[in-house]
Amino acid sequence: MPHFLDLRDLSREQIVNILTEAQRRKVKRSVGEEHTLSGKSLAMIFEKNSTRTRVSFEVGMREMGGNPVVLQKDDLQLGRGETVADTARVLSRYCHAMMLRAYHHNTLMELAQYSSVPVINGLTDLLHPCQVMADVLTIEEKLGSIAGKKIAWVGDGNNMANTWITAAEKLDFELVLACPASLPPDAEFLEGAKKAGAKVRLTTNPADAVAGADVVNTDTWVSMGDDDTLTRKQAFNGFQVNEALMAKAAKHAIFLHCLPAHRGEEVSDAVLDGPQSFVFDEAENRLHVQKAILLWCMGEI
Ligand code: CP
Ligand code: NVA
Repeated sequence: MPHFLDLRDLSREQIVNILTEAQRRKVKRSVGEEHTLSGKSLAMIFEKNSTRTRVSFEVGMREMGGNPVVLQKDDLQLGRGETVADTARVLSRYCHAMMLRAYHHNTLMELAQYSSVPVINGLTDLLHPCQVMADVLTIEEKLGSIAGKKIAWVGDGNNMANTWITAAEKLDFELVLACPASLPPDAEFLEGAKKAGAKVRLTTNPADAVAGADVVNTDTWVSMGDDDTLTRKQAFNGFQVNEALMAKAAKHAIFLHCLPAHRGEEVSDAVLDGPQSFVFDEAENRLHVQKAILLWCMGEI
C-alpha cells in the first residue's frame, strides 16, 4: 500500500520521481491541468488548524478532476469516540485516499493500519513530510540539485526538524541542526540517520549551523499542541534568524520557513520579507508537491 507517512518508507528514486512530477505539474498548470484523478475522492481529516495543507490538497484534488472531502475531527463521529480503526474502515469504502493532520503520530499509524486505501501524513507531532518535499523542490528550483548542499536548521527540534533528518537519509546533503539543549529533535531519528550514513550534526549554536550554509530554515518556537510557556520561549534566546545570523550563511543562501511564521520571534521581518526569503514560493510548491504525492499514492506515477 503506497502510504505517504514518513520519507524513510520511500526509496530515493520514489522521492525523486514525486519531485519530478511536481515540477512537471507546476509547468503544466498554466496551460491546463490534466484530470488524472477524475472520479477519485480524498478524505482529509483535520485535528488541528491548517491553511496551506488544507487549501493545497483541496485545490490540488479539484484541479486534477478529483473530489476532496474536508472533515474536521469534531464534525466526525471520531470526535464522539468512534475508533480510529472503524473510521479508517468506513472512509476506505467511500474514498480512494485519506490525508490526516493529527496531534499524535500513533493516530496516523493506526489510521494507516486499518485503511484499505493510501494514507497521507498531513502533519503529526513527529513528522511533516509533505512540507519537506515542497522545501526540497524550492531549494532545487533556486539553487539546483540539493546534493552536496549545506542545509541549516535553526530552532525547535520539532516535527519539521525530524523530517529534515529523515530527508538527509535519502538525499545526499549536509544537515546541521541548531536547537536549544532542552528542545532537541527526536534522538532515535538522529541516531538512525547517522547509522544510515546521513551527514547530520546537532549543535546548540545557531552561528555554527548557519556558517556557509546554502539554506537557512526555521519554524515556530511553539508548535500546535505545545505548551506556550515563558520557559520554552526563553530557551530560544539567541535563536532568531535575523540579518546578523543570515550574514553568516553563504552569500547566495536562501531562507525558508514552512509558515505560519511568528514575526519577531523565530524570524525577523527583515529576513522574512527580504531578498533571500522564498517562503511564498515554498508555500506555492505545496500545491505542486501535493498533486504529485496524490498521484503517487493512487498509482498514477
Ligand atoms: N506549513 C503548513 O503545513 O501550513 P498549514 O499549517 O497552514 O497547513
Ligand atoms: N511545527 C509546526 C508546523 C506548522 C506547519 C507545527 O507543528 O505547528
